[in-house]
Amino acid sequence: MRDQVHVCSDAESLAVYARDWLVRCMEQHRREEIEAAAETGELVRTPFVLALAGGSTPKRLYQLLAELPVGKIDWQQVILIWGDERNVPVDDPQSNYRMVQENLLAHIDIPQENVLGVPTPGGNPKKAATAYDQLLRERLPSKDEFPRISCVLLGMGDDVHTASLFPGTAAIHESKSVAVPNQVPKLDTWRITLTAPALNAARNVAFLISGAAKQEALAIVWHAPHDPDLYPSQLIRPTNGQLWFLLDEEAIGNTPLPESVMVQMIR
Ligand code: 6PG
Repeated sequence: MRDQVHVCSDAESLAVYARDWLVRCMEQHRREEIEAAAETGELVRTPFVLALAGGSTPKRLYQLLAELPVGKIDWQQVILIWGDERNVPVDDPQSNYRMVQENLLAHIDIPQENVLGVPTPGGNPKKAATAYDQLLRERLPSKDEFPRISCVLLGMGDDVHTASLFPGTAAIHESKSVAVPNQVPKLDTWRITLTAPALNAARNVAFLISGAAKQEALAIVWHAPHDPDLYPSQLIRPTNGQLWFLLDEEAIGNTPLPESVMVQMIR
């Protein structure tokens, strides 16, 4: 599948576009179930599994999702997981769970059992990661050795990290686990993160990138020699899924587009 690059005029239009894009992904998921039922004669419903990004970029998207008319998204059929988490309690200002709680969870009617945050972050990161790995393997539909996430939202740092796969850190090389602890010396902290193979097993993986500060990182992902240790976002390549770049114009700047991508300029 050719990568999809969608460019919006500014951060707000990017958030609006990403909201509508996500709704379309959910509607597509439902259509595929109905089409499968027409073949088999039995409607098998599987949850739409959405891996949420942390950081600041997706905050507005989460607010817009929360403001959708009731019923636009059937949250009973959605499972929320986190692509990564800081190793802090869920009520810590640094917590990705807390950011999603404030901007989305507090405003929608989603069953608590559908919200799969990292168990007991803020304590032992190895125990938290092991518990998260086990939770996701138990609760999510899987294909082969990794759960089949319907849609992964990813941010990208200006150092070309994504999720909590930071340059020069051990998690970059993980090939078996779904979630691992990752020590990040530059931040003097531990994180819990989904691994590259777990992210790449998803049906859709979308980078949501906004702002001129990300121009160089995006250009590196698209045009620099492949060096995932230095540029972890280069690890993201769905094995059987679609890769999306949902950007605003500031994030792309004058960066040439990579070859053979599908581009849509959203005005
Ligand atoms: C986190 C994120 C991280 C984030 C990037 C971009 O826990 O911080 O998962 O990967 O997506 O650092 O962050 P901004 O959106 O704040 O630029």
